[in-house]
Amino acid sequence: MTDDKGMVAGEPHYIREYRRMISSLRKRSANEEEVMERAVGGAYEKTGAVQAALIDELIPERPIHIIDVGCGSGRLAYALRGQKRIAYSGFDIMADLVEYAKSKCGRSDWRLETISTLQLPVPNACADMVVFMSVFTHLKPGEIKIYIKEALRVLKPGGLVVASYLDPNEPRHTKGWLPAPLQLLARLLGRDVMLTRTSQKMLAEWLTDGGFVIERAIDDGSFGQHVLIASKSGGQIATADGSSYEN
Ligand SMILES: C[S@@+](CC[C@H](N)C(=O)[O-])C[C@H]1O[C@@H](n2cnc3c(N)ncnc32)[C@H](O)[C@@H]1O
Repeated sequence: MTDDKGMVAGEPHYIREYRRMISSLRKRSANEEEVMERAVGGAYEKTGAVQAALIDELIPERPIHIIDVGCGSGRLAYALRGQKRIAYSGFDIMADLVEYAKSKCGRSDWRLETISTLQLPVPNACADMVVFMSVFTHLKPGEIKIYIKEALRVLKPGGLVVASYLDPNEPRHTKGWLPAPLQLLARLLGRDVMLTRTSQKMLAEWLTDGGFVIERAIDDGSFGQHVLIASKSGGQIATADGSSYEN
């Protein structure tokens, strides 16, 4: 049941807030490309290229299946579109973003779909990598933990989860942070969505509690957010120099 603003009663906060934000962006810009890019944080090609380079470094050359959770308007899909070795499944809660991503990357062999729950519509142990870029930053701790469980389920043994986060201990991530009442107002007005900060220690704990082994942290600012990489034990982990090891 939707009301006159297209809101659905009882829907999760992330769907409600992203819908509101996209509608607010459209009121402020008639340029749909700009709306689609701003809805995921902008710097479309640059950010996608940085994310794609990390994937190539983590698992170079061999054929892989990547699941991009919160794929948005396709920053990563667009950057990876030329790689035949990659089978890609992108899921997002916003149909408009998914449709835009589909048309931008032009890979009819890739799966891009809208989801409305925290369950991934894929079988167990089907993926080599699950990517959450700028997604945990918009979810509550309980929701993040559900996605961590899902990542473990859908990854093959040795598969990697790559997750970015905003760290309350990182001055770059606290700069410009609005006090809670102003954040709430921005969310109600569709000017922003929920922003969550998670310390590295906390996210690492959730990942290890969820059955992952922490492999690496990237906190040099290259992603705008910090990134944690963890593996599902019981398989070969590819290293940057092309060798691999059993974990
Ligand atoms: C900041 S954007 C980042 C998009 C993309 N990962 C990227 O880096 O370009 C966050 C994305 O997460 C999506 N999102 C928010 N909550 C989600 C959820 N529970 N499940 C899947 N996607 C979600 C939003 O619709 C949005 O596209």
